[in-house]
Amino acid sequence: MASWTQVLRQYGDEFLSWTQQHSVLETKGKLLAEAVRLMLFQEVNTPEEARAVWAATPAILSRCNEQSTYELPFAPIAYIWLHFLDRYARTWRALEVLVQQQCLPLAKYGVRTLDVGTGPGPSAFAVHDFYHALNRYFEENGILEFTKPPELYCVEYSNSMNHYRHNLAELVFKVTGQASQTTIFDLTRAMRDFKSFHPTQERAARFQALRNQEDHYYSETTDMMESELIYTANEAHQIAQSLHRYRLFIFSNFLTTVGSVKEFEENLKDLLNDANAGSVILVLGGAGGEYPEIYDYVDKLNKSAGFNKRIDNQTVSSSETTISNLVYEEARQFYEYLQSLALNKDQHLDMIHKHFSRKRTSAPKTNVRAYRKDGRKHRR
Ligand SMILES: C[S@@+](CC[C@H](N)C(=O)[O-])C[C@H]1O[C@@H](n2cnc3c(N)ncnc32)[C@H](O)[C@@H]1O
Repeated sequence: MASWTQVLRQYGDEFLSWTQQHSVLETKGKLLAEAVRLMLFQEVNTPEEARAVWAATPAILSRCNEQSTYELPFAPIAYIWLHFLDRYARTWRALEVLVQQQCLPLAKYGVRTLDVGTGPGPSAFAVHDFYHALNRYFEENGILEFTKPPELYCVEYSNSMNHYRHNLAELVFKVTGQASQTTIFDLTRAMRDFKSFHPTQERAARFQALRNQEDHYYSETTDMMESELIYTANEAHQIAQSLHRYRLFIFSNFLTTVGSVKEFEENLKDLLNDANAGSVILVLGGAGGEYPEIYDYVDKLNKSAGFNKRIDNQTVSSSETTISNLVYEEARQFYEYLQSLALNKDQHLDMIHKHFSRKRTSAPKTNVRAYRKDGRKHRR
C-alpha cells in the first residue's frame, strides 16, 4: 500500500486543480457564509445589541490574547463578524500549502485533528471541509484507502465561543442539508481547558479504570457471587493507548505571547512527545512583535518532541483565495447592518469604518509553520 506522502506526491497537485475545476472552496464558502449570516443577523436585533458589538470590537482587534476579551457581551459575535470567514479561507490556503509540500497527514481510519484554542472554529471548519473534499476526490478516483471521514476534536475554554461554534455547526448542517456530513457535529463539542490536558496521565488512569472493571455473576458451582475482570491487560492497554492520538495538531492564533507558550509548555510536551510518527503540527499566527521569539520557542519544543520543521514562515491570506470578495462582502453587509441599528463613529474604530465604507484594506497575512514527526517513534 502506498504511503500518504507517496499519495500526495502522485495526486496532490491534481487534487488542488480538481478543487478549482469544481469550485469546491466557493461552494463550501458560500454555504458557510450563509450560516454565519443567519447567525449574526439572528443574534443582533436591537440598537443595544449593536452597541454591545461595537463596544467589544476594540478588544477583538487588539486584545485577543486576553481571556477577559471573550467574556465581554457580544465579543464572539464581533469575532465571528471580523475574523471567521477570513480565517476559514486562510486555513484552507494553509492546507493547500501542506498538500503542495506533501505534508498534509492522511490516515486509513480518517485523520483525527486536535484544534487547540478553537474559538468559533474557523480552522476547524476549514479542516473539516478540506478533508471531506479530499475524500470525495479520492473516492472519485478510486484511491480507496484514504476515504474515511475526518474526526475533529476542539479544545476551547470560553463557554460563549463554544456556544456559538455549536450554533454555527448546526446551521451549517441545516443549510447544507447533507446528512452524510454528520461529522460537522464534532464541532459542537469541546474539551475545555488545554491547561488540564495531560494525555499520559489520562491514558494511565483509563488503563487502570479498565483493569478495575469487573463482571459479577452467580456461580452455581460455588453457590456464590463471583467476579471476573472484563479487560485483559493487553485489551486495556490497547484502548487506553488510543486516547488522545491525533494525526494533525492545529494551533491557530493560540500561541500569541511568549508567556502563553511557557504557560502551556508542559501540556505541549506531554501531547507532542509521544505523538506517533506521521503526525503533523500546523501553527498559524502573526508576524512581528513577540512572534519571532514565540516561533523560536515553539521550534525548540517541537524539535525536542521529535518533530522536524517542514514549512517555515510561509505566509497565506484569504486574498489569495477565490472567496476573497465573499469574505469582504459578508463582513461589509453586517457592518452596514450594525450601522443601521446603532450608528458608530468611534475614532478608535476608524480602520474598521475606513475598510468597510471608504477604502478596502488588504486582508491580513498569516504565518504558516508545519512540523512532521518522521520515522521511528521518538523516545523520551
Ligand atoms: C485568538 S483566539 C483563536 C481562535 C481560532 N483558533 C482562530 O484562529 O481564530 C484564542 C482562543 O483560545 C482560547 N483559549 C485560551 N486559553 C485557553 C485554554 N487554556 N484552553 C482552551 N482554549 C483556550 C480562547 O478562549 C480563544 O477562543
